[in-house]
Amino acid sequence: MQRHADIPDLVDIHCHLLPSVDDGAQDLQAGLGLAKAAVLSRITTAILTPHVFPGRFPNDLPGLRPKFQAFRKTLDSAGIALAVHLGGEVHLTPDSLEMAADGRAPMLGGWQGSKVMLLEFPDGLIPVGALNAVRWLLRAGIVPMIAHPERNKAVMRSPDAIEPFVREGCLLQLTAASVCGWFGPRAHDTAHELLRREQVFAVATDAHNLRYRPPVLIDAWCTLRDTYGDELATRLCAVNPATIIAGRAALGLDP
Ligand SMILES: [Fe+2]
Repeated sequence: MQRHADIPDLVDIHCHLLPSVDDGAQDLQAGLGLAKAAVLSRITTAILTPHVFPGRFPNDLPGLRPKFQAFRKTLDSAGIALAVHLGGEVHLTPDSLEMAADGRAPMLGGWQGSKVMLLEFPDGLIPVGALNAVRWLLRAGIVPMIAHPERNKAVMRSPDAIEPFVREGCLLQLTAASVCGWFGPRAHDTAHELLRREQVFAVATDAHNLRYRPPVLIDAWCTLRDTYGDELATRLCAVNPATIIAGRAALGLDP
């Protein structure tokens, strides 16, 4: 049986807990329920990453900030021990690149002195021009962290498809449920192929709701520990995510 003391404090850098802004928590009660579940999964710190998807989820940093501050206050008054920061999951579109350029796209954190932006591709493919977009972001001082590449059909067909992005300097974030096999065998196999290639920077929950996509990170930590050992499990679910958060202060991302 798993000894609880072995598990470190976990840090979730991708989740949809902020209420009423996207297809994650639908109201305040749902957001609080997800936050409580995150704490039960040994998550002590989370970056809330609402979808930023012009035309579908029209969120931007100025609009999200007051909603985030109100939610953080409510978490405090409810006595829920989850430290939160505001980020975003930015869908790759020409408009969202413009938002990144003018500061309206929320950043995830900092890494090696650069800003980091959580970047989402469509699930079905890697868009033509994505590599150029990534190069443009890097030139603008923004390191893209690619959200759940293991759930992208082009990467499932061939994990080589994500290699050029890694070579350019992108970071990769896997979904915890994929690592555990809960997103099906193809996402599982692709996740573990990327892990074997040592291309993964972090694992996060991408939690949306309690029923189908809960904020569960502890199971991924256990799977990683059993497969690759403690050190990697802790690096991907705690140490590297904490580095991204530590980088926020230097860049003034936490007002
Ligand atoms: Fe997400």
